[in-house]
Amino acid sequence: MSKNRLRLGVNIDHVATVRNARGGAFPDPLRGARLAEEAGADGITAHLREDRRHIRDADIENLVANLRVPLNFEMAATAEMQAIALRHKPHAVCLVPEKREERTTEGGLDVLRDESGLGRFIAPLRDAGCRVSLFIAADPAQIQASARIGAAVIELHTGAYCDFDAAGKMAERDAELAQLRDMAALADSLGLEVHAGHGLNFETAAQIAAFPQVAELNIGHFLIGESIFLGLKPAIAEMRRVMDAARSAM
Ligand code: PXP
Repeated sequence: MSKNRLRLGVNIDHVATVRNARGGAFPDPLRGARLAEEAGADGITAHLREDRRHIRDADIENLVANLRVPLNFEMAATAEMQAIALRHKPHAVCLVPEKREERTTEGGLDVLRDESGLGRFIAPLRDAGCRVSLFIAADPAQIQASARIGAAVIELHTGAYCDFDAAGKMAERDAELAQLRDMAALADSLGLEVHAGHGLNFETAAQIAAFPQVAELNIGHFLIGESIFLGLKPAIAEMRRVMDAARSAM
């Protein structure tokens, strides 16, 4: 294995999305996280949104109490979330922009808009030992501002690149990929650890994985979706077996 092993953070938010669709306790995000650990995930990412639409406070407590790998706690830069993070002191805190009406995290954090306020916001998290990561677009001004306020990590938003790829807009996709490559190098040169994520699948992840400065990819939606297809056959076969066993015991 290469010395420069790329870490995989598995985002388990959408196990909770499926659970919440029924309102019960199944499927449990912690069980998903445990399987991710067994499969070689280097970390688990969970986003406690202000509206608690997927991950809930109790999930974070469960993850903190039971995970063997580091937790990357995604949150908006609000006082409520800061208090939760300071209570749990996860390995990493990734700040993301959050709009109530969005379906997923749509854009990067605007670090420049309130640079000094954000600097004050992250200081207690850093003092508590959390690695603070800022989820930003591949924009040099945002990267420079992230370095100025003392973030340890930036996570480059790969959503635009993945959207162009999915839409078959190859020229735009290639331009965004080149920008991501250049910005990974810029961030690294400023002493920032570089992560990337959002919308990645097997093909798009492979392209980003080839950037030497990228230390970690965070991937969720595709993995949870793909696991339906990889896991549906054995789940149905087990149900068949259980039903047949019950009948043959009659
Ligand atoms: N990284 C960050 C900062 C995110 O907000 C998300 C989505 O919650 C991801 C990675 C994972 O994105 P996806 O679920 O599209 O793989």
